[in-house]
Amino acid sequence: MSLQEVRPPLPEETTLTADKPKTSVDDPGPSVAALETIVSLSKRRGFIFPSSEIYGGINAVWDYGQLGVELKNNVKRAWWRAMVQERTDIVGLDASIIMAPQVWVTSGHVANFTDPLVECQTCRRRYRLDELPGAEDLTNTELMDPDVVERLALKCPADGGPLSAPRRFNLMFKTYMGPVEEEAAQVYLRPETAQGIYVNFRNVRETSRKKLPFGIAQIGKAFRNEISPGNFVFRMREFEQMEMQYFVKPETAAVTFEEWMPRRLAWYVRYGVNPARLRFREHRPDELAHYAKKAVDVEYRFPFGWKELEGIHNRGDWDLGRHQEATGESLEYFDPATEEKYVPWIVETSAGGDRAAFTFLIDAYREEEVRGEKRVVLGFNPDLAPYKVAVLPLLKKRDEIVGICHKLREDLAKDIMAVYDDTAAIGKLYRRQDEIGTPWCVTIDVDSLEDGKATIRDRDSMEQIRVDISQVKPIILERLAQARA
Ligand code: GAP
Repeated sequence: MSLQEVRPPLPEETTLTADKPKTSVDDPGPSVAALETIVSLSKRRGFIFPSSEIYGGINAVWDYGQLGVELKNNVKRAWWRAMVQERTDIVGLDASIIMAPQVWVTSGHVANFTDPLVECQTCRRRYRLDELPGAEDLTNTELMDPDVVERLALKCPADGGPLSAPRRFNLMFKTYMGPVEEEAAQVYLRPETAQGIYVNFRNVRETSRKKLPFGIAQIGKAFRNEISPGNFVFRMREFEQMEMQYFVKPETAAVTFEEWMPRRLAWYVRYGVNPARLRFREHRPDELAHYAKKAVDVEYRFPFGWKELEGIHNRGDWDLGRHQEATGESLEYFDPATEEKYVPWIVETSAGGDRAAFTFLIDAYREEEVRGEKRVVLGFNPDLAPYKVAVLPLLKKRDEIVGICHKLREDLAKDIMAVYDDTAAIGKLYRRQDEIGTPWCVTIDVDSLEDGKATIRDRDSMEQIRVDISQVKPIILERLAQARA
């Protein structure tokens, strides 16, 4: 009996399909109607800037500003906490971006990591065929059919010009390793972090003494020469992945897969994403990546439609099996309980660091009317918020007040990101902190000089409480711990 035959059938497999995704409501709509709202806030407040902007920018590469870097680091930390720190069966890894080039031949990426590219014969613009209007639902075989463009009468969306027949375009970036380019070895920038985990499987298993099932998690940069990047940081050419490879006994892979699906969706909800804007979508057989036996995406309702946020894949023994065959190194696991020897199967959870941060940013955005004025709030889970607390003086000309503020900020900053601001009147300072998602503002006023108390204002409820200055830090740390739980 082959390994595929012993895999038990699961009800999900019949109910969850590309045409029939699993979602709690039909379509709640995006949290932000226009993507431009987020692009402009990101630029204005220092979350995300176009890369090399003073040189005119570079397509599909972005830089994180002073708030963006904090948000993304917090997202990565939250993922690491859930996937490594809180678990006894998963350990971390940080593998290199450049790997032996043969890795990518063995993994199938040199031959198969391609998108179907068509080119306008008039304006020379290039498109991913499956993203052209009228070609979205084509199967993989149809996408490489040389007659498909003619059959569907597809034209260049920009100028209506004729399009070429599709050709396979490999998404991997190439570079050279060694001092003399002509003699140097051609190497690739990794298009996924996963392979670094597979080639280290034996090292980690032996040194960690983990028994199956166990996982290896990694966060790191990946690079793809996308044909049609876009939608701000949704699809970039340089991005970060947060991937976990779970090594299991082959017969248990299908069940393990079903366990990881809700767990991964719940992680986004735990950190504040509206569950009505999340759903699962299973890949059709003709849509599966070359390594996948089964794939289900966690999708989010972006302003530009339902799109993949994270992929969960049953990769079978594709990766370890191929690396074992190519290197002659045994990657089998000896099961001491059953005395069986086998190549483990892999269940992968593959999330994007940038895409997750982008999702938390979009989903946190809200506009409200307060006393006749618009209030913009990023309602981040406090754990993800770039700054946890802002310390604000009511009167910036009173040295004693400013002095207390600086002392308090310094103390808070030993444990959390805390910022001082005195560049506007208090109402405006509050609105600014709301717009960047700071959960708490602490104000020192004239009365503080007499009674030793400060005001803590809550971002969401706008409620204010008066507490001893010495209690500010313990209260904020306590609230932060509650948000994490
Ligand atoms: N190792 C499996 C793998 O790489 P994938 O579905 O190609 O699977 C996984 O990518 C995740 O990586 C996606 O769900 C997305 O969050 C992120 N990702 C992939 N390509 C991306 C891109 N061009 N820009 C930003 N994020 C990307």
